[in-house]
Amino acid sequence: MKYWKNRLGVKLAVTITLILIPMLLASFLWFEYRAETMVKNEQEVRGAQVAESLVATLSSIMLSGNANIAHFWLKRVASVPGVESAKIFRTDGVEAFQDRATLDQVNSYIGKQQFVRATVEQPGKISAELLAPFNMASKGKANIRHSKDNEHLNYMSPIRAEGACMGCHGYDSNPIRGVLVLGLTTGSYQVTASEIKRDMINVLILIIALFGLTIWLVVRRKILIPLETITKVAANIRQGDLSNSIELNRDDELGLVASTFDLLVHDLKQKILHEADQRKCQEAITDAVISLGREAAGVPLLKHIGELSM
Ligand code: HEC
Repeated sequence: MKYWKNRLGVKLAVTITLILIPMLLASFLWFEYRAETMVKNEQEVRGAQVAESLVATLSSIMLSGNANIAHFWLKRVASVPGVESAKIFRTDGVEAFQDRATLDQVNSYIGKQQFVRATVEQPGKISAELLAPFNMASKGKANIRHSKDNEHLNYMSPIRAEGACMGCHGYDSNPIRGVLVLGLTTGSYQVTASEIKRDMINVLILIIALFGLTIWLVVRRKILIPLETITKVAANIRQGDLSNSIELNRDDELGLVASTFDLLVHDLKQKILHEADQRKCQEAITDAVISLGREAAGVPLLKHIGELSM
């Protein structure tokens, strides 16, 4: 309770802490923004790497003459944890490896019924939501689309036709053979990001609390306690006690006040001692006059003594 009486320290600590809070908050928001962009970039790089490696694998499957197993392979890719969907679309936005269109085209181009696939399904189309980035990818520019809730990421990677592809796909002069649309979940990154955020808030609260406490302690030690001592000594002087001195032994402003105060007390003591001496002297002279006797002391002598005691 006694500490709280030192309101100057509390006031200073609270003021500085209040100034500090918006500053730390601003830096926290900045860090948060940076962390978010870093996490996002990391996701994008990861998506790009996975998509590129899948495109390379597809090309190898194609060139090895196993085009008819490509759809099995895609299904397997889609079942990998973290992968939401893995689909290949033709440049017109129709899903590949579902109907017979390309199989028939390739077979008629190579002039034999080399490729057959057991399952034939009605092909899907690229969703309207992804159409704009898909169109860019089908022109050769890889593209990324984050879902609105930031929990999914769709990476669109163009599949380019090389010279070797033309052995089977020579009927199509488009340099882009198709587009891989890879859907990845980013949930785990979100969890990491929110954990980082929570840790940062905790650290921030700790920093503010420690800072406030440090300011309060420093103000108390460096300013309030010396001020208390000075006040105490001044109060003692008021009651006539000149035995105390402050002796702060510091070079700063408070040290100056304290040493000036000590000097003042010293001077006061000297003055009081000097006055006491004078009073003693007067008393001695008065005693001497009385003992000389009235008749022996003439008027001129009394006058002279009177002048001396002044
Ligand atoms: C030996 C023949 C052959 C070669 C060489 C070949 N492909 Fe294919 N490709 C096919 C067949 C057959 C299909 C259709 C498979 C199906 O529908 O199941 C196909 C389908 C595709 C598809 C799906 C899109 C569509 O048009 O239906 C892409 C993309 C593709 N190939 C890319 C390539 C690329 C890139 C290369 C060269 C690196 C290549 N292919 C080389 C036979 C071949």
